[in-house]
Amino acid sequence: MNVLVINGPNLGLLGTRQPDVYGAQTLDEMMEALRAHAGSKGVELECFQSDIEGEIVARIGSSRGTFDAIIINPAAYTHTSVAIRDAISGVDLPCVEVHLSNTHAREEFRHQSLTAPVCVGQIMGFGSIGYRMALDGLVDRAAGTKA
Ligand code: DQA
Repeated sequence: MNVLVINGPNLGLLGTRQPDVYGAQTLDEMMEALRAHAGSKGVELECFQSDIEGEIVARIGSSRGTFDAIIINPAAYTHTSVAIRDAISGVDLPCVEVHLSNTHAREEFRHQSLTAPVCVGQIMGFGSIGYRMALDGLVDRAAGTKA
């Protein structure tokens, strides 16, 4: 199984960005831990980060045929991007949305996700463990398991 992991704007700043909200780990450290977990399940990962909406749209659009599933933290674009939502719908791969923080416990403008309705699920509030939960969910789903 090949999984594409997409991280959106400002997530490249993790480690120093609002550590009270997002923790002290860098994105590279999070993705390395995820890669090790994926490896233990026989899953290949490709990790992509961009601050640019169009690059994220293009990466999703070119993922069909190469990847079996997508894990995405669209970051601030979660709350604004019809283009990323349409890309997820258009590519027709199972996609899980992850947020490090519980966006419902934060400012009101973070309560709405434009992308979650076109994903198979959404995980938030567990920090970097959320990526692992998303991967486990996608692996179980691919195996036809539904608890
Ligand atoms: C975030 C939540 C978003 O509201 C915010 O814009 C981010 C990070 C999270 O992982 O908690 O950049 O997606």
